[in-house]
Amino acid sequence: MAKPKLQYQCSECGALAPKWAGQCADCGAWNSMSEALPAASGDSGKSRFANYAGQVGTQIQALDEVRPGRETRVSVGLGELDRVLGGGLVAGSVVLIGGDPGIGKSTLLLQALASFSGDVRALYVTGEESPEQVSLRARRLDVGAGDMRLLAETSVERIIEHARLESPKVMVIDSIQTLYTEALQSAPGSVGQVRESAAQLVRFAKQSGTALFLVGHVTKEGTLAGPRVLEHMVDTVLYFEGDSGGRYRVIRAIKNRFGAVNELGVFAMTDKGLKEVRNPSSIFLSRHEQPVAGSVILVTMEGTRPMLVEVQALVDDSQLANPRRVTLGLEQNRLAMLLAVQHRHGGVLMGDQDVYVNVVGGVRVTETAADLSVLLAVLSSFRDRSLPNDLVVFGEVGLAGEIRPVPNGQQRLHEAAKLGFRHALVPAANAPRTPVKGLHIYPVSRYPEVMDWFAGL
Ligand code: TYD
Ligand code: MG
Repeated sequence: MAKPKLQYQCSECGALAPKWAGQCADCGAWNSMSEALPAASGDSGKSRFANYAGQVGTQIQALDEVRPGRETRVSVGLGELDRVLGGGLVAGSVVLIGGDPGIGKSTLLLQALASFSGDVRALYVTGEESPEQVSLRARRLDVGAGDMRLLAETSVERIIEHARLESPKVMVIDSIQTLYTEALQSAPGSVGQVRESAAQLVRFAKQSGTALFLVGHVTKEGTLAGPRVLEHMVDTVLYFEGDSGGRYRVIRAIKNRFGAVNELGVFAMTDKGLKEVRNPSSIFLSRHEQPVAGSVILVTMEGTRPMLVEVQALVDDSQLANPRRVTLGLEQNRLAMLLAVQHRHGGVLMGDQDVYVNVVGGVRVTETAADLSVLLAVLSSFRDRSLPNDLVVFGEVGLAGEIRPVPNGQQRLHEAAKLGFRHALVPAANAPRTPVKGLHIYPVSRYPEVMDWFAGL
């Protein structure tokens, strides 16, 4: 059989070209052309129409008539990972796990696979490490290898062949960037290779009902290497994050066809691998002995669990024409917007100041409930006046200077009270109707009220 003729496709606009070029002739994007397989020939418009008229394999049904089989889930042996997956691993689903090098992706999956045994067959395909390395790690982790099977291979075609014979229930590919398909000539790790390899594996998973974990590397920009398409092809996208120097690791669902997103799983990296942290609400909290300026405790709610984190700000005279606005663990644009609110509705101008905001412990906060804590931390640093260290804060700040309520206010307050906090500055609409024991609530509905409250400290 003749090899199908290769084409080149622009990853920006999707234009096809017979030859590679540095710039896409259609949209003008640079360096976006990568190899692509031409669509299967032979299904011209005419034959497709003929199919529609009569002998189509598929049929249209009423949604009501569809009787889904029961979704079978297996536990992966790590409660925190089960939780992010939406209550266990679904048969035939494809999960992409991204994260910085050295964050612990291989360790996590090795631990998860080792927990399967008996009728759940597990296959670990390693393209990065040798079987000896994997075995050494398993020994060091002290996980009984269960009935786990190991394959060192980087050719997708051969991996799938092996998998068909072995028919595992769960398979791990570590990592997708090391694989190559014989259909393309480009090097492993290139956009075309990653896309095509993943497509073949996803097809295999769906046909065979094998649950598949794909490990993916993260680029310097923080997105999964390889095309964004990868995220569209899979059922679930998980990100593994945290300081690789620090102790704690957080795993977060970005997309999940079988569960809620933004659910967090928290692990601690120990010398015996990753250990679950079942009650993570206070692990990121570092209490200062004395109150310090620029530090505020935020109750954030990631997924279904409240967590207390410290937001720190430093406001300092700038030497630059364009003062710096730097955030770590928060969105940068949001800070610029909040500073504008601060100016307009609080009358505090920081045009000649550098502003740095950091969430302590390498945590990333994605929800807008952090707004109020950011503004207070900035204000506290700017005025060099500390806030009480038994105070918690949450609330969204709108452009009109309104303090908007956030979901699960009650739960956040109860968690703060449980951890011994005594004061809470919260959106008025989140103020509880019945008092929370031991907690004094300050409800605010507009930003000027926050300024008044701060002035009265
Ligand atoms: P690894 O799983 O290899 O990361 P990834 O696959 O995401 O690149 O994790 C490697 C890091 O984890 C390494 O820096 C050492 C650390 N580690 C421990 O601290 N304890 C352990 O038991 C193991 C296996 C790794
Ligand atoms: Mg690895």
